[in-house]
Amino acid sequence: MDILTALEWRYATKAMNGKKISQEQLDVILKSINLAPTSLGLQPFDVILVSDDELKRKILPIANNQKQIIDCSNLLIFAAWTEFTDERKQRYYDDMKKIRGFVPEPLINYIESVYENARKNKEWFLQWAQKQAYIAFGVAIVAAASIGVDSTPMEGFDPIKLDELLQLNEKKLTSTLLLPLGFRDIENDYLVKLPKVRRELGDIIIKLAASVTDDTTRQRNRNKKQKKQTILTGYKRTGNDIHNGQRVSRHSLPTLLYFLFSPPHIFFNSILCQRTNGTLAFAPTAQANPQAKAKEPFFANAPMRLLKII
Ligand SMILES: Cc1cc2nc3c(=O)[nH]c(=O)nc-3n(C[C@H](O)[C@H](O)[C@H](O)COP(=O)(O)O)c2cc1C
Repeated sequence: MDILTALEWRYATKAMNGKKISQEQLDVILKSINLAPTSLGLQPFDVILVSDDELKRKILPIANNQKQIIDCSNLLIFAAWTEFTDERKQRYYDDMKKIRGFVPEPLINYIESVYENARKNKEWFLQWAQKQAYIAFGVAIVAAASIGVDSTPMEGFDPIKLDELLQLNEKKLTSTLLLPLGFRDIENDYLVKLPKVRRELGDIIIKLAASVTDDTTRQRNRNKKQKKQTILTGYKRTGNDIHNGQRVSRHSLPTLLYFLFSPPHIFFNSILCQRTNGTLAFAPTAQANPQAKAKEPFFANAPMRLLKII
């Protein structure tokens, strides 16, 4: 099935007919999960494959008695890592060395910083790991649909109880998502014949191009004829313009002069402002941008900057 046909065909199946999917189909879905992109390629989650009917029955009440749990062919449990252990880190390095022959220096730096952060802030790490699990989860749903296998994405379950049942804490895992795989029960699933409800494409996609922002800027300048010159500063966030991917504000020439020569501004500018790619922005905004390195008090080169702007 081509991708759009598969996505139109699939739906969150509410009733499954109990038929088994083939081993080949299961393999395609599992391999797709493994091929999903994750940050740094770390894959900080495991996927538990449940095919046993008795275990499915035990999971049923934990998943709000959603019948797909027992009527599916196989149940996948996406379980995020709760800790970035030494062993997991070493395994990552070993795999990288075995397959590529080396671990690139920048990657080591990133992994080590994730490792340090994970030690300091377990909650942050878990959230990050869960985000990666969601990516693989999405890929699994699409892969299943592409080969005519139905699935039901599920967050509706009690992760604490499921972790207890499967003793996931001992494995430093926590259940994050469920994905029953199987085939739709055409007679009993009320959703089978219902069309999809989605927002209009033009509503969900925001097209932002240089020409669009230029148009907006032109419009704004037309509306403010009295302001012949505008400058970009991060001092007062009154406007809502976008420049080099950062939100900035526009101010008139008198505002600039007040901005330059008022002593409190000189003081605060030296503390708050950073220069990034020729754009001035509030320090926190600049810090969020890893490319924003060079700190420079706004006042330091003000005359040159003023000339450039004018
Ligand atoms: C992360 C996630 C969690 C979901 N949890 C449940 C669930 O617990 N039970 C359920 O029946 N559907 C669940 N759904 C299905 C959504 O309700 C469904 O995808 C949505 O209504 C769109 O419909 P469609 O997938 O049929 O196109 C979940 C979907 C996602 C993506």
